[in-house]
Amino acid sequence: MEPPWFKNAAIYCIAVETFRDANADGWGDLAGLTEALGYLEELGVDCLWLEPFYPSPMRDNGYDVADHRGVHPRIGTLADFDHLIAEANRRGIAVLVDLVVNHTSVEHPWFRSARADPGSEYRDYYIWTDEPQAHREPNAMPTEQDSPWTYDEAAGRWYLHRFYAHEPDLNVANPRVRQEIRATMEFWLERGVTGFRVDASQFLVQKLAETGDSDPHRLLREMRAIVSRCRTDGVLLAEADVEIDQLQAFFGNDDEMHLLFNFYLDANLFLALARKRADPVSRILGQLPAVPRGGHWANFVRNQDELNLSHLSDEERDEVFEAFAPREQERIFGRGIRRRLPPMLEGDRRRIELVYSLLLSLPGVPVIGYGDELGMGDDLELAERYSVRTPMQWSPAANAGFSETTTEAPLRPVIARGPFAYERLNVEAQLADEHSLLRWFQRALRLRRERTEIGLGESRMLETGDPTVIAQLCERDRRGLLTIHNLSDEPRAVTLATFEPAGPPEELLADDDYAPVDGGRLELHPYGYRWVGWG
Ligand code: GLC
Repeated sequence: MEPPWFKNAAIYCIAVETFRDANADGWGDLAGLTEALGYLEELGVDCLWLEPFYPSPMRDNGYDVADHRGVHPRIGTLADFDHLIAEANRRGIAVLVDLVVNHTSVEHPWFRSARADPGSEYRDYYIWTDEPQAHREPNAMPTEQDSPWTYDEAAGRWYLHRFYAHEPDLNVANPRVRQEIRATMEFWLERGVTGFRVDASQFLVQKLAETGDSDPHRLLREMRAIVSRCRTDGVLLAEADVEIDQLQAFFGNDDEMHLLFNFYLDANLFLALARKRADPVSRILGQLPAVPRGGHWANFVRNQDELNLSHLSDEERDEVFEAFAPREQERIFGRGIRRRLPPMLEGDRRRIELVYSLLLSLPGVPVIGYGDELGMGDDLELAERYSVRTPMQWSPAANAGFSETTTEAPLRPVIARGPFAYERLNVEAQLADEHSLLRWFQRALRLRRERTEIGLGESRMLETGDPTVIAQLCERDRRGLLTIHNLSDEPRAVTLATFEPAGPPEELLADDDYAPVDGGRLELHPYGYRWVGWG
């Protein structure tokens, strides 16, 4: 059987409302994204993941959904969506959309009806109690919300919310809610999406387990069955932020989620960067459970949320805080950092490349956030996680070329000051510069796609004898690829005991020019990296 296509793909995450505005109203829209598809094709991504673009009061970046089967009026129409899918598919780009069924917005008609009328058919779509103290569920936003229960005056009862109080949790044990989930999935699959990014899947399972369900993972198998029934190439990419020994269960028997975000690798990558050592990365790779044939890890550096360090020990987390978020305002929820990568690395191009070179070469499917390819920065003056959600920087024109609005303020301010300001850091400037980070991403993504040893081959770590250097060998058919990274700020030379290329080695990507590989001996500059291939 052929391996699934997505194993050799790169995914690109987009918040449509901050990406590109086609109608000059200050909000990015589906039409703007459609215009930008040529750019994304050139960049070399295979799949887009669209964050929620549904009708929503937008108090949680659109994750507060008020209608699962519509488009926010400022973002476009269903016809715009259909056009986007057609144009993306024409270019060979797949589209995933966010499936947010852990909760709704308080403004969702289901909740309005549920809270107002005890006899409402929607009452049991949500989870109510008269005794919140009797329950122990933690809230996912500990510093923002004291409790996951909020008293609703209209209902005269308390409702559960694992996230913000304006996001009441859906009762996924209710067969009618299950039917709504099915209908939502079918709705988007019929419109041509390739699959979904499943929001907060750990809470879906947890809530079912709490009701005494003997098979709380069945819901995830139901989702897989719906996707598989509609498409042979369907994908479920899930957020499953659980303890490491529970992760495997979310792949199931290759019958639940295809891709799981690799929160463990991410946190340990930052620990490795803070320590200038590679061993936290190699160690965690050795601890992750095996992936099934039809699944893989979705690796990422930063996403639209905080950099989540909750799976590090307290001491390790403090080390990362110390290195990359020394100031309290850079931290959030007691567990994370609300900055983008380049400001954390003080814009050091060598380290930024090193990190993305690792991301693109480690086992798993890389997920890149919009603007990562430019090295975009953050705006700590914006509240909470909005710091990392500023508009895409297209050009040095007003509003970074994101929006031509002259009458309305853009949804969020563009970054206009400091080293990451749009006037110097933008797509237009980087396309014109062969040495820009954007051009580097184009080359690296092409190379990853062509050298299918990474995505589709067998990979193993090689002993380097040096805790600051990580080396990996990927092989497929008669081709091989060695990737090697030096996390330290000093030059390194390592000798790989088991390095026997089946052909003349060729230098494919590196931070600089190097002397050719000599036997198993390789040199690396400070923060240097090399991809060496043969066959
Ligand atoms: C996920 C999203 C996050 C959102 C939360 C609630 O964690 O990534 O942005 O706030 O779910 O939907």
